[in-house]
Amino acid sequence: MSDDAVSAIEEEARGLFRQGDYAAAVERIQAHLVSEGEDATVYELLATALKYSSDKAGAAGALMTAGEIYGREGMTIQSIGAQKKAMELGVEPDFSSCRPAGLPGPDRVPTPLFDDLSDDEFNEVAAGLVHRSYEPGDAVVTEGQPGDSMFVISSGEVGVYTLRGGSEVELANLRAGDFFGEAALLSGKPRTATIRASVATTCLELSRSALDEVILRCPRVEDVMKEFNVQRAHATIETLLGRQSD
Ligand code: CMP
Repeated sequence: MSDDAVSAIEEEARGLFRQGDYAAAVERIQAHLVSEGEDATVYELLATALKYSSDKAGAAGALMTAGEIYGREGMTIQSIGAQKKAMELGVEPDFSSCRPAGLPGPDRVPTPLFDDLSDDEFNEVAAGLVHRSYEPGDAVVTEGQPGDSMFVISSGEVGVYTLRGGSEVELANLRAGDFFGEAALLSGKPRTATIRASVATTCLELSRSALDEVILRCPRVEDVMKEFNVQRAHATIETLLGRQSD
């Protein structure tokens, strides 16, 4: 399904949501899936419409289907995110469907933290992740606050900001598949930046204790965190120096 077709049905459904006509939204989205073919984002939209229509079981089913499609397409984090949402509606997850069987396909979205885990390790990590939702403008972590967990973005987008001379400087934008919050975990120091949702965003949160277990089994995870930490510290310095010379 093309991105344009997805945007069109999303816009139409949101219009029907605003009017409170959830049954019509369900019907339109289902018809769209039949005429345009399967798409994980549209199944997630269907789940929202079904939830609004108080059809919890239907919503959970649509989320599990979205999770399967994401998994098949190599979008592992999005797949776990959809299954976590289904779990909140009472469904047993099946994280083995979150990673494509066999070799990664060309469209596989790299998930640097989890790519090296064996299936058993991956299932354990996935089970330990906690699903969080944010509205646009919500802070996920705040500069200067203590931090005891890290996050992987399962949908949406966040901005990374730091305060300099009383004003906020944007350091980066992060999207689905990216992780953040590693700096405070590695250093034991407060958060080095504020992360705010730019649009409606969902993240999977991994606590320090869950992460410690992962690292014990798979030390490569800590190496990846350290690599990103160094790159990000350099990027921050570059951005702030560039700003100074403005
Ligand atoms: P932490 O300091 O725990 O919380 C804020 C997070 O923002 C930090 O971990 C990094 O994950 C992230 N971060 C900080 N600086 C940058 C940057 N320049 N680019 C991308 N992410 C960053």
